[in-house]
Amino acid sequence: MTRESARARAPGKLILSGEHAVVYGHPALALAVDRGTAVTLRRRPGPTAIERADFTDPRLLPGLCTVLPEHGVGVEIESDLPVGRGMGSSAALAVAVVRAWAALEGQAMGFAETHAAAFGPERVFHGDPSGVDHAVSALGGCVRYRKTPAGPEITPLPSPALRLVVVDSGSAGDTGALVAGVRSRRPGIDPALDAIGVLVGQVEAALDAPAVLGPLLTENHRLLGQIGVSTPVLDAIVAICLRAGALGAKLAGAGGGGVVLALVEDPAPVLRAVRAAGYTAFDVGTAPATPAGDAHAGDR
Ligand code: PMV
Repeated sequence: MTRESARARAPGKLILSGEHAVVYGHPALALAVDRGTAVTLRRRPGPTAIERADFTDPRLLPGLCTVLPEHGVGVEIESDLPVGRGMGSSAALAVAVVRAWAALEGQAMGFAETHAAAFGPERVFHGDPSGVDHAVSALGGCVRYRKTPAGPEITPLPSPALRLVVVDSGSAGDTGALVAGVRSRRPGIDPALDAIGVLVGQVEAALDAPAVLGPLLTENHRLLGQIGVSTPVLDAIVAICLRAGALGAKLAGAGGGGVVLALVEDPAPVLRAVRAAGYTAFDVGTAPATPAGDAHAGDR
């Protein structure tokens, strides 16, 4: 049955390991976080329009209209994710609008259809994304993602009990430009991309062993520096986190700005140290895995 209005929410994400390398067929591990984006749709006369949004971007309406018709829908967007910081605000938006539209139209939508449809807005935002961001947003929990010529291989993993602090570098990274930059530095940086691919397997094996996992994350950060996507600010934040007792730290997402994630035993000293250095920081929890096949599962 169709409806007059519908709302759906989807979580943001952090890439634990494997960003950029995932574009070239290596695996990546991503975690859904307990912050997200909600989309409310209402039928209305006239052209489809954004009526209220917690953030603005000229790509918003074109992105939404890869899912929505050009006429007849009013859109409200609420988000508590920092935008353009590698926490999956666009992926959460993409999944939420796909789910809200399915709910408005009274259609059940499983994961595969949701993932395929959410590529529409993601391509408007990011060019040719691997699809890892909106896979984990749609599935929740922890996901291993690998892009293959036959389509994505997406494996839900048990959610690890990790204590994570997120530090905002204060500037946004441009994912499309960063991915293009990495591409332009190949094949010279291929050994570093291959090393990231190997590291992802080690990270997966260490998900329940924080003392082993921490240094692997820091090594992932070093390799991301080698492929040219870290910045002096991100390197400085990683160093502050490690000095304050973090088990490991890395930029998360495309880099060039965005956030650093730090694996901690106790968030307090790390939060104190980065805040004293002038950065915004918060601890973040994981979002639970979404019940399979539930088109409305984001409604929480
Ligand atoms: O959305 P971001 O900024 O967290 O970056 C996405 C991850 C990349 O691996 C850099 C790109 C991709 O398409 O997977």
